Amino acid sequence: MSRTLKKSDELELRVTSLAYGGKGVARVDGFVVFVEGAVPGDFVRARVTKAKPSYAEARTLEVIDASARRTAPECRHFGACGGCSWQTLAYPDQLSWKQRQVSDCLEHIGGLTGFVMDEPLGAEPLWRYRNKVEFSFADRDGGISLGFHLPGEWRHVLDIEDCLLHSRYTNDIRNHIRQYAASTGLGAWDQRSRQGFWRHLVLRESAHTGEVMVNLVTAPGDLPDGGSFAAGLVERFPRVVALLHSINDTASSTAGGHPFTVLAGRDHFFEELCGLGLMVPPSSFLQTNTVMAERLYRRALEYAGPSGYELVFDLYSGIGSIALLMAGSCREVWGVEIGEEAVAQARTNAGLNGIDNAHFTAGKVRAVLKEADPGNRPDLVVLDPPRAGAGKKELQRIIELGAPRITYVSCNPATMAGNAAQLADGGYRLARVGAVDMFPHTPHIEAVSFFEKG
Ligand SMILES: C[S@@+](CC[C@H](N)C(=O)[O-])C[C@H]1O[C@@H](n2cnc3c(N)ncnc32)[C@H](O)[C@@H]1O
Repeated sequence: MSRTLKKSDELELRVTSLAYGGKGVARVDGFVVFVEGAVPGDFVRARVTKAKPSYAEARTLEVIDASARRTAPECRHFGACGGCSWQTLAYPDQLSWKQRQVSDCLEHIGGLTGFVMDEPLGAEPLWRYRNKVEFSFADRDGGISLGFHLPGEWRHVLDIEDCLLHSRYTNDIRNHIRQYAASTGLGAWDQRSRQGFWRHLVLRESAHTGEVMVNLVTAPGDLPDGGSFAAGLVERFPRVVALLHSINDTASSTAGGHPFTVLAGRDHFFEELCGLGLMVPPSSFLQTNTVMAERLYRRALEYAGPSGYELVFDLYSGIGSIALLMAGSCREVWGVEIGEEAVAQARTNAGLNGIDNAHFTAGKVRAVLKEADPGNRPDLVVLDPPRAGAGKKELQRIIELGAPRITYVSCNPATMAGNAAQLADGGYRLARVGAVDMFPHTPHIEAVSFFEKG
């Protein structure tokens, strides 16, 4: 018998598992309810926020009987901020749920069985692991807020004092900049009226060199007292090697990709990944958890197992991190990436590291592979597509390359599973897969899988 639930109904629910995406799962007479703010084992009172014919969503109002797996949140902004929603679940449980969700996706979406599921690589450290954070400005009574948008509210920003996702140093920089912005008397950008000055702040910090890049994004105009602000900031925070002022004169509320001027230092910072030096300008994609990115790439390299003679294609190569790493253990590597700036960056980074057997082509994977010399069959393909996975036609081209081995790096196991099913239809056997936790306390999962032509 199924029960009809309505929005605003209050229910008492026992949460039994976690859904892909991070919400708790409970059942009422067999009807599935996805519960925000609950972990497996919790008995909660919850209010229905959405009721559909086949499922409902609810928000926890009270934890009546806490699960043994529940832990106290570490962050002072927990709940109000809306981020790091899994921090009430003990870390070993977070990891095992991620592992389970990767295998569930492959089995249920991909219809695949018989592969080896390697131990997941747990995150270390568990906090202050991000090398990039973006904050928004908003006006508030008597001042300026600088922090994260409140969940579902685009006008209001929660002032962040100490975000546990990034270092104390960059937290201090953000708080210093908030004070400066408030002292100028200029208001924050308002998306509805399209008025105001302060828009975003992007902070990036290398895990290995300690260098910091600060990018302050505003509407058109000079920073008030910009010279003394820049000098004061660099004096107080000497690890800031790049202080940029970007102008966003569009209605789009994005923090990146706008024209900028350098207020102090240079227009890039340096990071190291697995011993490679990488020059990172503001527009460059870099995995946001440096230490775990190194473990992810090492796992990809271990699965791929190059032995020195291979021709490797690194598809969706970004600034070339994987290709440059592979270069040391194969004959030649070709990276393909749609972003021209990223390709230029990859070439610069190859030069910086004295690598001459890695080459990069700008373009869409499908178009570039169409033009590729059919006599140049790769021995190994590594692909690391965006969240949506590789497009069907694009993946068909990859299959037609006929590489004996494929290593797939994914930030979305659901789309990886769909792609894995197509690879299986194309004659590839999924041999092994391993989850890598780049984002502890959040439901995000990365995984590496390895396919052999059967
Ligand atoms: C998840 S990132 C991987 C970057 C890189 N492997 C790394 O670890 O730094 C995916 C990359 O694919 C690129 N991209 C997206 N669609 C593409 C396409 N159709 N063809 C080529 N590159 C594409 C994006 O610009 C982005 O740099």
